[in-house]
Amino acid sequence: PKLAVFASGTGTNLAALIQATQTGEVPAEIVRVVVDRRHTGAQQLAETAGIPVLRINYKDYATRELAEDAMLTVLASDGVVGILLAGYMRILTPKLVNAFHQRIINIHPALLPSFPGNSAIADAWQAGVKVTGVTIHYVDDGVDSGEIIAQEAVKLTATDDLAQLTTKIHAVEHTLYPATVAMLIKKGVFVK
Ligand code: GRF
Repeated sequence: PKLAVFASGTGTNLAALIQATQTGEVPAEIVRVVVDRRHTGAQQLAETAGIPVLRINYKDYATRELAEDAMLTVLASDGVVGILLAGYMRILTPKLVNAFHQRIINIHPALLPSFPGNSAIADAWQAGVKVTGVTIHYVDDGVDSGEIIAQEAVKLTATDDLAQLTTKIHAVEHTLYPATVAMLIKKGVFVK
């Protein structure tokens, strides 16, 4: 299947996904990377891998729906059948969510429904939990609220600081995301 990855940041999950398509672990083609800001690591990685980038500047559109219309046009002409969010910092509207119903996946660096939002690792750390982890879930139009697909726990040791916890979480993300996408492809989730 042809997939798009949406990313706003460093792009380490994008890198893991690209690599997994290259090794064959994920039998899919990433045909488009969508970014919402300039000069991201994600855009750089896509360009290095030869993947076309669509940069959507939301300020150019009167509404989020109009920005998503522009995306949908490009995704349709690319033949994209599934979307992987990898550190995408925008909430999708029902327009895009319904166009790709149960075919948009997100990765979140905590065990949802605990610690939604964009500072999940630090929030879990602050709360003093002894176990946190990574969640892969379907995307709906809420914040980190769609049906859970996969989770992996990360235990904190007595000496872990926030930086060490962050490193552990990211390491789990980089294996869990490709493995889960491969499982979903096998299940036939990504078809039009
Ligand atoms: C990851 O921790 C992911 O779980 C969260 O955003 C972060 C993106 O990191 N949604 P990267 O850009 O993939 O390095």
